[in-house]
Amino acid sequence: MSYTVSQLLTQDITFQPIEIKGWVRTFRANRFIALNDGSTIHNIQCVVDFENTDETILKRITTGAAVHIKGELVESQGKGQKVEIQVNSIEILGDSDPEEYPIQPKKHTFEFLRENAHLRTRTSTFSAVMRLRSSLSFAIHKYFNDNGFYYMHTPIITGSDAEGAGEMFRVSALDAKHPPLDDDGNVNYKDDFFGKETNLTVSGQLEAETYAMSLGKVYTFGPTFRAENSNTSRHLAEFWMIEPEVAFMDLAGNMDLAEDFMKSVLSYVLDHNKEDLEFLEKRLLDEEKTKPQAERSEMSLIEKIKFVVDNNFKRVSYTEAIEILKNCKPNKKKKFNYIIEEWGADLQSEHERFLVEKHFKCPVILFDYPANIKAFYMRLNEDGKTVRAMDILFPGIGEMVGGSQREERLDVLKEKMKALNIEEEELWWYLDLRKYGTAVHSGFGLGFERLVMFATGMGNIRDVIPYPRTPQNAEF
Ligand code: 4AD
Ligand code: MG
Repeated sequence: MSYTVSQLLTQDITFQPIEIKGWVRTFRANRFIALNDGSTIHNIQCVVDFENTDETILKRITTGAAVHIKGELVESQGKGQKVEIQVNSIEILGDSDPEEYPIQPKKHTFEFLRENAHLRTRTSTFSAVMRLRSSLSFAIHKYFNDNGFYYMHTPIITGSDAEGAGEMFRVSALDAKHPPLDDDGNVNYKDDFFGKETNLTVSGQLEAETYAMSLGKVYTFGPTFRAENSNTSRHLAEFWMIEPEVAFMDLAGNMDLAEDFMKSVLSYVLDHNKEDLEFLEKRLLDEEKTKPQAERSEMSLIEKIKFVVDNNFKRVSYTEAIEILKNCKPNKKKKFNYIIEEWGADLQSEHERFLVEKHFKCPVILFDYPANIKAFYMRLNEDGKTVRAMDILFPGIGEMVGGSQREERLDVLKEKMKALNIEEEELWWYLDLRKYGTAVHSGFGLGFERLVMFATGMGNIRDVIPYPRTPQNAEF
């Protein structure tokens, strides 16, 4: 019978004939294959009877080769594993030239592996990260499904700019077989979508709002695109966002939902991805050892995740945060690059990190931001200058979530759009929601890759998405 490595290592099936297919990680002493098939962080040891195996076959058992093994699962004589496979026959399904195969059995840098993104999940670290990514996706759908939300698919190509920030990729139609040429013979891209200007979505929120106002509780989970030319370890041009939207829910309810949701999905991976987390935790501990004592993390990866699951997020208004920042040492001693002087200033990531990592030392929900540093759709507070916005900041990550209660009053929304030069014709359907049965409603967006970064301890967002799209990287 055919098994996965994970099944062989966890099920009680010793001394039975088994079959397995996978990729050779290493082949030692012409005898011991470490085999992996992606089902677990662990390899299974396969012991080859080299005296009775053809020399030409032995030569083809190389790192990276795909093999089909038939044998028996037995208790291992050696240290390091409980069981191993006594190989009766081995078939090479696909050779891998050891001179050329990029993924050698040694430590590669993450930069090198990014250049080999098509093969990097053959390494332990990246297979663990991507299994966790998959598990988190499942946990997200499960959470919403268990809590009465409908999953909706918002469009990728859209005519609106949901954030009003102008950071969009334009969509153009091109007939590649018969490209329209200009007088000089250069391809003349039609800069529109069959006669209409469109772009790749920056957020599914506005469309999700329309569904919340009929189905009650909905969420989207899909790719979003930002044409911001930022080259940081936390920004991608293409990232996945989870956006729930709920009718009749105010900002306080939004905070409760976000906190409960994040705790639930993180607790799911603590329960279901233990081995991968333990592996990544050990990887991080090894990395930490190379740092000076003062810079080392106080908590291990799993402790950090448990801490978030077990403790309340701190809820702090923007105004309170500004007071803390104005009076804190780095601000006064000018250690921040950007000095917070007064109320109304936008927070930079250095300030956010100070608040979560140095001051509160836990996830923080900042709310009630000044209206003029936030998007047009946020509900204006009674003070006339702040909006019911919330950002959730995480230690080591910074902004993980951005959300708000939405402006449900037609006249206030129209006025805001006018002030920001947003055409009413562009968002007529969005305004309709405020004309017909408007009600309080709220939602948020969580950057999926930032959540995966937190759950895996990976320091660069390029290493938690299969094929990162950044200003320098769209090769694959
Ligand atoms: O704060 P943002 O821009 O909020 C929105 O798009 C709202 N429409 C969401 C909503 O209320 N439904 O983005 C939400 C989150 C951020 O907090 C961050 O985690 C992530 O998306 N994000 C990015 N992640 C990776 N690369 C980028 N360039 C990102 N920009 C935002
Ligand atoms: Mg934001």
